[in-house]
Amino acid sequence: MGFATRLERGEEIDLVRSLTAGNRSVLDVGGGSGELARAVAARIGHCTAVEPHAQLVESIQAGDTTGVVNVFAGTAEELPFRDASFDAVYCAWVLPYVSDIGHAVTEMVRVCDPDHPESKVVLIAGGSGNELLTLLNEVCVPVAGEPYDHHGYLLSTAAEALAEHGFTDFALHRTEASIRFDEVGRAERVATAAAVLTDFWYGPHPKAEEIRSALEPALARHFAGRPHGIGDQATVLVARPGA
Ligand SMILES: C[S@@+](CC[C@H](N)C(=O)[O-])C[C@H]1O[C@@H](n2cnc3c(N)ncnc32)[C@H](O)[C@@H]1O
Repeated sequence: MGFATRLERGEEIDLVRSLTAGNRSVLDVGGGSGELARAVAARIGHCTAVEPHAQLVESIQAGDTTGVVNVFAGTAEELPFRDASFDAVYCAWVLPYVSDIGHAVTEMVRVCDPDHPESKVVLIAGGSGNELLTLLNEVCVPVAGEPYDHHGYLLSTAAEALAEHGFTDFALHRTEASIRFDEVGRAERVATAAAVLTDFWYGPHPKAEEIRSALEPALARHFAGRPHGIGDQATVLVARPGA
């Protein structure tokens, strides 16, 4: 079982569904496996997703057994849609991957109709105290020699860009989520979690084995306090056009 099948984020999914319940034309930017888009579509009838990776585009198509998700290949920085095509745009856990947040936000605002009464751009990123990001930043990032993954900074940069485009009415929500490791023995849990997280974050990285080894003692300490879950708390930023 990989990262996605172990992740329990019902609160986050429910929040996105309720935030978009009054919308009719919703875009999911960086749709991944399509889990969120299917949840939105289940509530309002359909959802459009854009996703750069061909394998994930196929996965969204394959998972959409009822034909309610319309998926396009494309990136946040260059959305393949006309101006004001949607009345809500959301983008979950994608900001760390975009090359230019200001540019991506400009695109999200461009395709979002500011005159619709339910117009909104919703951005989801790691919340403060996120246990997974703490492990990533404190244990893996120094080994990989990469910059700190600071989701608060990414969200505040995005908020500044949203405000520049007139989306000045902000609300913040926090959601709880966790990745579950139900293996019975602590040693097995530690080894499994180290392998799952290394594979998810670093895949074929040349230092993947070193990263996995560095994670094991940190995970042993973590599971001593919280035996079966690692928190993946989110901050959800909702931006609406100002009056
Ligand atoms: C952590 S996953 C999140 C997937 C999904 N939004 C979710 O919450 O389940 C990050 C996603 O961002 C996508 N992505 C990476 N670079 C992107 C870009 N420049 N524009 C849009 N999506 C991108 C990846 O392909 C992947 O699907």
